[in-house]
Amino acid sequence: MDAARPLPDAISEVALGTAGLRGWKITTPVCRALVSEQGAQLLEFQALGRKPLLWLSPRARFQPGKAIRGGIPLCFPWFGPHPGDDGKPAHGFARTRNWTLLQATVTGDLLQLEFRLQADAGTRALWPHDFIATLVMTLGRTASLQLHVENTGTDDFRFGFALHSYFPVADIRRVRLDGLEGIEYIDQLHPARARFRQDGPLHFTGETDRIYLHTPGECCLADEAGGQAIRICSPDCRSIVAWNPWQEKTARLADMAPEAWQGMVCVESGNVEDDQVSLPAGASKVFSLLLESEA
Ligand code: BG6
Repeated sequence: MDAARPLPDAISEVALGTAGLRGWKITTPVCRALVSEQGAQLLEFQALGRKPLLWLSPRARFQPGKAIRGGIPLCFPWFGPHPGDDGKPAHGFARTRNWTLLQATVTGDLLQLEFRLQADAGTRALWPHDFIATLVMTLGRTASLQLHVENTGTDDFRFGFALHSYFPVADIRRVRLDGLEGIEYIDQLHPARARFRQDGPLHFTGETDRIYLHTPGECCLADEAGGQAIRICSPDCRSIVAWNPWQEKTARLADMAPEAWQGMVCVESGNVEDDQVSLPAGASKVFSLLLESEA
């Protein structure tokens, strides 16, 4: 952001960890939040009188170039491992690069932050396309994110992305995800990544890593033990990913405490696999996500 333009009073700059990452703490009359410059990542959000909406691992690493475990990292321009090159970072590069804070504005109870990431030599080495990605966060009694992707090059491109939301739950074994009934998914834990169809609401009974495709873009996370429900509304996102690493996988993740899997779940909104987005040269598209705690 223009150094000469002061930040609104609701925002103050903070250091994240001790390795030089910068963030912003937000306190408005209706919410509090924490945002990281790396990844333009919303790390914490809590509306007044509601429970925290996002989970941030107490063991999250705050190191330049390392993904931060929690909040809403943005996976872009690909989701999961790079399709043709294992040497490239999982979930793309957007979550591990610094974004530029272009604007911070307050309108009534709403605070809006606008971040930008655009192609440079570093991104072109990983993904040979020219683009501008803009992420607008609107924080009030709800949290919403809008991702704009513009193809600023002369060739068409195709990309995948996910707003990889981490939610806190009181007990993963008593969580229900409604809204995916009858929807086809890829089971990422199946050796052949086989496809199945969701029968009834999704309950978590073990390690789960599923990509639901062609969804209506809306689901509801019911945390029965915690007495909270979160409405996840992403009308421009056809894919929803449900992930919980359970015990064994968590033990292999240095940035999660051994028992942490019991108190979190990821429900990610995006367009991946069959739902990836084709963007002609000069075109742009917008994708939005609204999160609302109904407790
Ligand atoms: C999920 C993927 O979106 O992210 C999982 O479906 C993956 O396969 C998980 O393990 C976490 O990824 P990372 O790179 O943040 O450890």
